[in-house]
Amino acid sequence: MTVVKNICCIGAGYVGGPTCAVLAYKCPDIKVTIVDLSEARIAAWNSSNLPIYEPGLDEVVFECRGKNLFFSTNVDAAIQEADLIFVSVNTPTKKSGMGAGMAADLAYIESATRRIAEVSTSSKIVVEKSTVPCRTAQSMRTILDANSTSEIHFDILSNPEFLAEGTAIKDLLNPDRVLIGALQTESGIEAQNALVDVYTHWVPKERVITTNLWSSELSKLAANAMLAQRISSINALSAICEATGADVDEVAFACGKDTRLGSKFLKASVGFGGSCFQKDILNLVYLSQQLNLPEVADYWQQVVIMNEYQKKRFVRNIISTLFNTITNKKIAVLGFAFKKDTGDTRESAAITLIKDFMQENARVAIYDPKVEPQQIYMDLSEPGVVDTQKEVEKKVQICQSAYEAADGADAVIIVTEWDEFRDDQLDYSKIYAGMHKPAFLFDGRLLINAQKLRQIGFKVSVIGKNELAGTA
Ligand code: NAD
Ligand code: UDX
Repeated sequence: MTVVKNICCIGAGYVGGPTCAVLAYKCPDIKVTIVDLSEARIAAWNSSNLPIYEPGLDEVVFECRGKNLFFSTNVDAAIQEADLIFVSVNTPTKKSGMGAGMAADLAYIESATRRIAEVSTSSKIVVEKSTVPCRTAQSMRTILDANSTSEIHFDILSNPEFLAEGTAIKDLLNPDRVLIGALQTESGIEAQNALVDVYTHWVPKERVITTNLWSSELSKLAANAMLAQRISSINALSAICEATGADVDEVAFACGKDTRLGSKFLKASVGFGGSCFQKDILNLVYLSQQLNLPEVADYWQQVVIMNEYQKKRFVRNIISTLFNTITNKKIAVLGFAFKKDTGDTRESAAITLIKDFMQENARVAIYDPKVEPQQIYMDLSEPGVVDTQKEVEKKVQICQSAYEAADGADAVIIVTEWDEFRDDQLDYSKIYAGMHKPAFLFDGRLLINAQKLRQIGFKVSVIGKNELAGTA
């Protein structure tokens, strides 16, 4: 029976960092080394200011760092030492070439796999942790097999990660399930059991699911596609609500009470963001096209189309409510991260919205409690355009508080559902007092009590709600 004593994780990002930090925390008998090519990222992991914000992460890292948890740029040494290696590198959507804009870019997976093949001096279990198209493990196996010898053997497992940002530590400590796929060979199953033993240090055995490799790879894409599909479904209904006077919160509550549907992931919003949903659905669409299943591809594509529609619809509503022009008007945007409790901005709806406001020559004031100003400038800049950041800086002001952003504004837009923007935490009377009148407020997150804010004097518009519809 294989017993794992030494783990290496390639990729110290949003997944590799928290996942393997929790693993070290729960398995004091295992040495865990997280490696990355980025010196800056590793330096941050070794400092008191970790490179990502995630509630509870500091405590976990500070508890085990230097004991059984290490962060390093020495990739080769960590590979050589390890008996199990997580490959947790990025798999972004391809920007150019075949499948551009849809397929996953597997260059980082391939280079990490080749590195493992080149420098290994003993047998390894190689675990696909990144989200990848179904059958990627086959390519990894071909690379590794070509480099195995009678002394060095590689087993490949698929162990996709289901954590959500903002709740990563909670999700990792208490996962709904852990999924481990393996080739159904004697050695594949032995490797699978070795990883099951690692997780059962803290996860109840009945929550550790074992499957074949391809089911595991596809389940990850499927889970993200289905979660995103629920959001697009409720967002599509939010448009009907606004046109009819139905209330999207009430519709979601009524539907969610059906135990077959469940209540989670039915919160209408300005559109889903994050590094995973869009990328993974497009990945599934591309896979379906490659498998010559155009109807299946179109079905999933519609989830992304609906998400884009939701963002555009929200912007259109803002412009038409502000008398069909926002030129030179000050728009205060509350929140820039793609969801609360993270500083991550990848695919955040805020980016699309603000770029549209800039196109309309509005003045935009942004406040987010966790996103760094430099990140905001970078996200709003257009790649390849000369002086793009200077242009952004002319139109965008980054503020230290919601009050500063709203001061003198014509409209306040809630884009991220940070708790501090709730109407029992933020002083909306103070916000109102400082705004141009009429003072408009657009809630893209169903965060505030519209009635209460109307009493202050705001003209409030909430996604999926329109008390006036159908009564006129
Ligand atoms: P990330 O960009 O934050 O981190 C990836 C890291 O890998 C980077 O720091 C990069 O420098 C490093 N890297 C790339 N190639 C390397 C190599 N050859 N050697 C060493 N380091 C290398 O990405 P992430 O958000 O952590 O996502 C990683 C994977 O996990 C992706 O496939 C993603 O789809 C998946 N995933 C992400 C989430 C999430 O919430 N972010 C959740 C589940 C799954
Ligand atoms: C997602 C999956 O939830 C997670 O299992 C997977 O491992 C990675 O992708 P993440 O993107 O970090 O996690 O956050 P998630 O909570 O899923 O939110 C994604 C986006 O959907 C956010 O913009 C969020 O605000 C939005 N959302 C979520 C809604 O608009 N409505 C909802 O009901 C839920």
